[in-house]
Amino acid sequence: MIENLCKIAIEQLEFSYSPYSKCKVGAALLAKSGKIYTGCNIENASFGATNCAERTAFFKAISEGEKDFNAIAIAAQKDGNPVEFLPCGICRQVMAEFCDGDFKIFTVKGENQFSEYTLSRLLPNLFSL
Ligand code: THU
Repeated sequence: MIENLCKIAIEQLEFSYSPYSKCKVGAALLAKSGKIYTGCNIENASFGATNCAERTAFFKAISEGEKDFNAIAIAAQKDGNPVEFLPCGICRQVMAEFCDGDFKIFTVKGENQFSEYTLSRLLPNLFSL
């Protein structure tokens, strides 16, 4: 399961639109329904309008009616080289809106190599309403 999710995240790198940072990011989000939603980062000349791969996947899923999630895998390349990217603060907050603390975050580190985190580890003492 983890390997498959990571493989799908890696496959999304080709769709990344990242002419400014040259960082390609791909994500694969596993819903509790079993469906996997994909995402890539989409940059903009007005940098603040950039959307991260993780949020692309979440927004696709939410907009299609998904509400419950198990895990997300994230793959990244900087200047064509594989790198480990952890989700940015805004993406962590978006995850916290829809996921429990035990939501799993897998970061791809290399071929068949990944790290596993939980949302509560990456975003302790979170803000919520
Ligand atoms: N980025 C992501 O897509 N996800 C992350 O977890 C961190 C950063 C993107 C945003 C931007 O296009 C590029 O990586 C460099 O920040």
